[in-house]
Amino acid sequence: DKPQIGVVGMAVMGKNLALNIESRGYTVAIYNRTGSKTEKVVSDHPDKHLVPSYTIEDFVNSLEKPRRIMMMVKAGKPTDAVIAELLPHLDKGDVLIDGGNTFFEDTMRRNEELDNSGINFIGTGVSGGELGALEGPSMMPGGQKEAYDLVAPIFEKMAAKAEDGAPCVTYIGPNGAGHYVKMIHNGIEYGDEELIDESYNLLRNMLGLSVDEIADIFSEWNKGELDSYLIDITADILTRKDDLGSDKPIVDLIMDKGGNKGTGKWSSQNALELGVPQSLITESVYARYISVMKDERVAASKVLPKPTGKLEFDKDEVIEKIRQALYFSKIMSYAQGFEQMKVASKHYDWNLQFGEIAKIWRAGCIIRARFLQNITDAFDKDPELDNLLLDDYFKDIAKRYQESIRDIVGLAVKAGVPIPGFTSAISYYDSYRSAVLPANLLQAQRDYFGAHTYERVDREGIYHYPWYKEQ
Ligand code: 6PG
Repeated sequence: DKPQIGVVGMAVMGKNLALNIESRGYTVAIYNRTGSKTEKVVSDHPDKHLVPSYTIEDFVNSLEKPRRIMMMVKAGKPTDAVIAELLPHLDKGDVLIDGGNTFFEDTMRRNEELDNSGINFIGTGVSGGELGALEGPSMMPGGQKEAYDLVAPIFEKMAAKAEDGAPCVTYIGPNGAGHYVKMIHNGIEYGDEELIDESYNLLRNMLGLSVDEIADIFSEWNKGELDSYLIDITADILTRKDDLGSDKPIVDLIMDKGGNKGTGKWSSQNALELGVPQSLITESVYARYISVMKDERVAASKVLPKPTGKLEFDKDEVIEKIRQALYFSKIMSYAQGFEQMKVASKHYDWNLQFGEIAKIWRAGCIIRARFLQNITDAFDKDPELDNLLLDDYFKDIAKRYQESIRDIVGLAVKAGVPIPGFTSAISYYDSYRSAVLPANLLQAQRDYFGAHTYERVDREGIYHYPWYKEQ
């Protein structure tokens, strides 16, 4: 029997996905440009049902038809290169799957180009890191629906399972929809990380707690509504000591320069493109950028004065308020992320199912959290929900926690601890719930210097004011 699926690219993600699929009872064809890597996978796993090939032609020919080929190569040019190598050997109806962190517009282009040659192309977001790939990731496939149906049985077996047993994979939509949703997942991941990092900074530098104390606080928080993978690993990280010998917490020895591979930036760029307010993710991208300016920050820290006011507060009360501010801000971040998907769904004609998306984020992926069940429930109740904040559960949290975040933002600003995520969260909340914003004055300014015109609140039509006429 020929393998029903093959994986191209035997770096850690490709290898782990191949092993994952194999563990569900499949024989898996594998190929890597450098043959020695393929050899190593086979020799490291002699008992597994892996069929190695050392030329792309042999690899393609080893597969059952229609062929299902999952590419796990570096996003960008390498993906195009692999497609170009595969293409001459493929037949109409074959299914190519790109499991990389690919920019969704590239997926749209490839899907169209390949479709013209009768080849199906499924751009699939895969989240969960190395371990997720091996044990069960959350998967976000987009492309031709008929082609997805050909891989669905395999995907459903290899994906993570939520608490209710549902596989964390679902057909997302045509062409680039899957990679788009993965991009938003990553943007949200940036936001979650930023909010946790700000909370840590407040606990550390405003309350003066030790790393050990903060580790305990995060473990405690992880037992409640904040229960999530990222809070869990944060608690664990904070318990870890230097691996090179000192007894310092490792977090104190890690350079404070935030890296990024671009997916958060793409989310923000796309939000600007579509005209969606997505301040929290964008601030998280900026927070990484400013962190990289380490030398400038160190120099500035010596010459720019810090706040001089005295802070008075009750420690335990503030810890609980930080927890509430964190949860409140997380809700704003997801509200913005889902809002962006709503606009994108119309713009790109994808018919995204938000409840289904929340469902497949409940396990396997980096942003997995108890809270995704609340989002799932909200969209189950109302699939057309305009904004998460309007759902009863989230409305109630906002009602109970809004004073806490206001207090924390006030304290943090007084203390001089930067909180771009928290401030953008409360600003978004206040803007969203404002019936009137000062854009009336903005419109007047634009009309004043540029005759850009404005609408009126009391009558129909487009107006221009005689600004330069004496009154
Ligand atoms: C996942 C992650 C992963 C991503 C890293 C890196 O869902 O498994 O999103 O795909 O590559 O988190 O992101 P940055 O390097 O940009 O932080």
